[in-house]
Amino acid sequence: MFLLIKKYFILALWITLASVPAHAQWPYEVPFVPSPQVVVDEMLRLANVTKDDFVMDLGSGDGRILITAATKFGARGIGVDLDENLIFQSEANAQNAGVSERVQFIRQDLFKTDLKRATVITMYLLPGVNMRLRPVLLGLKPGTRIVAHDFDLGDWKPDAKVTIRKNAMLWVVPAKVDGRWRLQLPLPAGAQTWDMDLRQKHQEIDGVVRVADRPPGGIWQPALRGDKVSFVLVDNTVREDEANMYFEGTVRDGVMSGEFRRGVGASQTRHAWRAERVRP
Ligand SMILES: C[S@@+](CC[C@H](N)C(=O)[O-])C[C@H]1O[C@@H](n2cnc3c(N)ncnc32)[C@H](O)[C@@H]1O
Repeated sequence: MFLLIKKYFILALWITLASVPAHAQWPYEVPFVPSPQVVVDEMLRLANVTKDDFVMDLGSGDGRILITAATKFGARGIGVDLDENLIFQSEANAQNAGVSERVQFIRQDLFKTDLKRATVITMYLLPGVNMRLRPVLLGLKPGTRIVAHDFDLGDWKPDAKVTIRKNAMLWVVPAKVDGRWRLQLPLPAGAQTWDMDLRQKHQEIDGVVRVADRPPGGIWQPALRGDKVSFVLVDNTVREDEANMYFEGTVRDGVMSGEFRRGVGASQTRHAWRAERVRP
């Protein structure tokens, strides 16, 4: 009888252990695996980190990304990790590198960390963790740069990717531009109001332009990087004087503004432009 009970006890223990997911073998959602130094360098180079940046490393491990951001690029920043020993190790590493006044390491869950202060976010996490973080990242200030080692952000395509031994990917948080924008244009034929209907999936945009009662026209070469937008519209209001208009501008608080060039070469003219969002 005792032997039978013992046999069932061992079987129950085996079933319990076998049903524990593989990731439970490490205490947190992502195990500590340090990024090789050349990958760290490449991530920070790709993000174009400068002394004016505030870098936040999510899951900072032994602190190497932030310490490199401070020693090689002059940046400041904060690293968060749940592993207390790694926080101690990072602080000692920062001290040895002479940058402890520029970087800080905090024992904290990355999901409970306020990321608004960051101009650059670095991460070497797992795909599921990246995807849980994605809505938070997309809600950050337009222009915030995110660099990840190895794992992507699903169908939010990177703005740049470098593969040197490992993948390093860069995303720039895009401004929200989907909706209807009313453009005031100083055209040779006279001042006009054109409506642009923009659709957006992350940094990918397209749409149509509506001019009076004419059929919708194209918005050509549209591009969005952070809060910088560019596109081309065709001015065909006067058939004998058709010209492309090359727009560049900044999106801020429901207003786009900047400069457009009408025409090319010797006939090119430059004008200020402004558009207001009239429908989300
Ligand atoms: C793959 S390591 C990356 C370390 C470092 N960023 C690098 O690239 O060398 C991931 C780190 O995330 C930490 N981590 C896992 N889950 C976390 C969480 N929810 N909040 C903060 N840190 C976490 C782990 O302790 C580990 O140090």
